[in-house]
Amino acid sequence: MELREKIPNNVNLSEDPKLQRALEKWLPDYQQWWLDMGPEGFQHADVYLRTAISVDAKGWAHFDHVKMPDYRWGIFLSEPEADRRIGFGDFEGKPAWQEVPGEMRGYLRRLIVTQGDTEPASVEQQRLLGQTAPSLYDMRNLFQVNVEEGRHLWAMVYLLHKFFGRDGREEAEALLERRSGDPDKPRILGAFNEPIRDWLSFYMFTMLTDRDGKFQLLALAESGFDPLSRTTRFMLTEEAHHMFVGETGVRRVIQRSVELMKQDPNEDVRAHGGIDLPTIQRYVNLWYSLSADLFGGEISSNAADYFASGLKGRYHEVNQPDHAALDGVYSMRVPQGDTLSETEVPLRNAMNEVLRDAYIEDCQRGVDRWNSVLEKAGVDYRFTLPSRRFHRHVGIYSNASFTPAGEPISAAEFERRRDEWLPSQSDLEYVASLMQPVHERGKIAHWVAPPGKGIHGKPFDFDYVRM
Ligand SMILES: [Fe+2]
Ligand SMILES: [Fe+2]
Repeated sequence: MELREKIPNNVNLSEDPKLQRALEKWLPDYQQWWLDMGPEGFQHADVYLRTAISVDAKGWAHFDHVKMPDYRWGIFLSEPEADRRIGFGDFEGKPAWQEVPGEMRGYLRRLIVTQGDTEPASVEQQRLLGQTAPSLYDMRNLFQVNVEEGRHLWAMVYLLHKFFGRDGREEAEALLERRSGDPDKPRILGAFNEPIRDWLSFYMFTMLTDRDGKFQLLALAESGFDPLSRTTRFMLTEEAHHMFVGETGVRRVIQRSVELMKQDPNEDVRAHGGIDLPTIQRYVNLWYSLSADLFGGEISSNAADYFASGLKGRYHEVNQPDHAALDGVYSMRVPQGDTLSETEVPLRNAMNEVLRDAYIEDCQRGVDRWNSVLEKAGVDYRFTLPSRRFHRHVGIYSNASFTPAGEPISAAEFERRRDEWLPSQSDLEYVASLMQPVHERGKIAHWVAPPGKGIHGKPFDFDYVRM
């Protein structure tokens, strides 16, 4: 088989025999991982997928029916920028690095491995969802997200193999050995070990957790290490679809609930097989708080080091007034005893919080669009994002308890009110009871509205997945 067929790429792989050998050795292990941990029960189905065959406008979105194990996972970097310079930190204005500077090896490897680990993790978390897909359209979107997360793993593994020698090869193997939720060899980050049992969770995950991914990629796209920047810039083009799946998925659930509420204003939506709005809000609270953790601690010397060394910038660094960020401070409310006190943190140490701010704003825009569905329907209920302090397991708020509005409370009160704020056992059981597969063309489950339009100009009743 031709190399370009086996590993599509725009990195001149055929001219780098050492890298080619390393990747050819990794390929069968990857394929085995996909068969073991990819979508269970659908490895032989023909799925209408988008495949990147090049990075230009014509080639990056090629649509066809393919079997997932035959998906052409490839290595694609955005086109290089001539004379690119480092945009921030201690090396601002110096030429971007094409090789890894020796003293940054450790940092950079950690950044790449942490990002890389999330990609296969989400495929593992979602591997059973095809079996309960509410429509073929949704099933296809799930599988699209899954194969692209697989390609994102390839993107990170390319960097490890190309630039990190033996350590890189070992890390690339380890990425296939950890397993989401496995107590002995878990994935690195918390949210990627949480089970995704139902489709409401899947929509929340792609809306809120994939969006963390978007902001991490945006920060890495600023990197002074040019291959990392170019890799992540291309990944972002694919990531946009994942968030579309999440935002519109939740919106369609809300849409359906509102329709059911109208049919019978005196009854609980659940009596009509829909998902009530407070349950949706509790799912938001859960997945938003788990996702907020992924940005790391509010006050972080690691974040300062990544920024100083030019490896990880801010969201759209070009719009920042001061790229050194040496003088500024960030004011945050830090728990002290039973209260919160306003504290100034040197800006570089607050870089995780700066990125979290951009994430929160972006999430809020999506929530506003959900609320406009309610407004148009004349429903008074509104969704809100909980405070960034609510239900945290990482950072300065993790050792205290807060209401969704961000008010400090005792741990005992939090436990007492937990079921008001986070999905309760009975919420989870109810939502699980709705997860009956609808695998017939043009049909959809009762609890979710069909999409406004199909994929790539195809109608909703297109045969997106042929079993
Ligand atoms: Fe990804
Ligand atoms: Fe994603």
